[in-house]
Amino acid sequence: MNPTLVRLRGVERRFGSVVALAGAELELRAGEVHGVLGANGAGKSTLFNVLGGLLRPDGGTIEVDGRPVVLTSPRDAWAHGIGLVHQHFTLVPTLTVSENLALGLRGALEPGLSVQRAVRELIERTGLDVPLQPRVEELGVGDRQRIEILKALLRDPRILVLDEPTAVLTPDEIERLFDLLRELAGEGRAVTLVAHKLDDVLAVADRVTVLRAGRTVLTAASGEADQSELVRAMVGDGVVDTIALGLGPPPSGAPPSAPHAERWVVRLRGVDVEDERGWRLHKVDLDVAGGEVVGVAGVEGNGQRELARVLAGRLEATRGTVELPEQIGFIPQNRSTEGLIGEFDLVENVALALYRKPEFHSGPWLRWDGMKRVAEEIRSRYEVAAPSVATLGGALSGGNQQRVIVGRELEMSADLLVAENPTRGLDVSAAAFVHDELRRLASEGVAIVLLSTDLDEVLALSGRIFAIAAGTLRPVSSRARDRAGIGALMLRGERRTAVDSALERGVDDG
Ligand SMILES: Nc1ncnc2c1ncn2[C@@H]1O[C@H](COP(=O)(O)OP(=O)(O)O)[C@@H](O)[C@H]1O
Ligand SMILES: [Mg+2]
Repeated sequence: MNPTLVRLRGVERRFGSVVALAGAELELRAGEVHGVLGANGAGKSTLFNVLGGLLRPDGGTIEVDGRPVVLTSPRDAWAHGIGLVHQHFTLVPTLTVSENLALGLRGALEPGLSVQRAVRELIERTGLDVPLQPRVEELGVGDRQRIEILKALLRDPRILVLDEPTAVLTPDEIERLFDLLRELAGEGRAVTLVAHKLDDVLAVADRVTVLRAGRTVLTAASGEADQSELVRAMVGDGVVDTIALGLGPPPSGAPPSAPHAERWVVRLRGVDVEDERGWRLHKVDLDVAGGEVVGVAGVEGNGQRELARVLAGRLEATRGTVELPEQIGFIPQNRSTEGLIGEFDLVENVALALYRKPEFHSGPWLRWDGMKRVAEEIRSRYEVAAPSVATLGGALSGGNQQRVIVGRELEMSADLLVAENPTRGLDVSAAAFVHDELRRLASEGVAIVLLSTDLDEVLALSGRIFAIAAGTLRPVSSRARDRAGIGALMLRGERRTAVDSALERGVDDG
């Protein structure tokens, strides 16, 4: 058996009244890829922030090479060969890529080896291709993720942890990353992949550990772990959402029917959005009918933010024509800055959307009794963890803020709902709820545009699917309606090589 490099026992950590870890256990062995699974909020990032020296545990022990250690800073963790690729980016946006890489390396290189050379060698060896000259702020999230991984690898860690690295990569890039992880494990390192999607983990891991509510509930060789057992370990008695777990659509998950041409509610023609940085959207044509879910897949930063805002009536097109219905619901991705007002209570936050609806007016006055009723209903139906509807938006955790916004926009009964990564950051049961609600709204005749970086979500929920790359929207043909086909279309705008044959397969011209 491979030697154990890391052993975590009974790790506990609280944030105020929130118990993030309540006795988590983990063993990482040399030569293995270890998958760590758990729904959002299970405590995965907290556990690895403890191992990375960023958070002090309230209880439990950490052993490296069989000896107890105390890790009080990332420097301590590095001294033991522990390298952590964070879920949230840690790069300095205004510095160039090389400057960021050099920063991460301070004093860690073998004498005589220049940063430039080390970086070039590493890029060649790993195939993690990134440009070195631009400032990080000029790059998309895919590049940023690759830089974070390079930064960790440059210090040659014995123990490498990647916290949810796949969210911003295309399927093709994910596959290449997994090959690299296997290779790194083959060199005798302990490699850990943290994810909330089963098939990502099962594709690469030798062993898996499942965390739930801060506890380790299962550890098994991935060959021996039964998929349904893993699902149950992840969600407990909660709702199983096959989409959020990366298991594809549920058996009953036939996509909503084809559009009725007489019920177009959205019509975009030749829409450009241009800003000082250049094109954000270019010649976008899009029709959406009532009752259909139109999916837009893309790697973040390719124009979907702008498209979502044009559709929500919040951003004006530079050119082209935009026809939208009167009542539009919008679930923005950045819920804390665009969705909720921190100083408003839940009733006021709900009113922000509902004030546009006639039934909430009585003459010139807003009907606060009605708003309060809706707010209370949202709080209970969407299981918002808030003591009352008088709780301020800013006092809620991120996940609960999302529940309020999703609930509010779903309650709008708009003609069009624009949803931008609507389940990001939600736990599995909340995500299942949102997915069900989107289906229900579509079946009631609402037009839905789902913009998501989660291909499984797009595939499972959408009727027609488009890929967006570098501001250009392309329809995905039925032949290309799978991860590989859509992935190829998503790549087109990237600086990387375009997969042209796959592109031709993927585009319906006319
Ligand atoms: N810095 C923090 N302050 C307050 N609560 C936190 C903080 N970090 C994490 N939490 C809470 O701890 C729990 C576990 O979070 P996390 O470790 O990020 O889970 P995961 O990575 O599995 O999604 C969640 O309830 C989360 O809201
Ligand atoms: Mg996390």
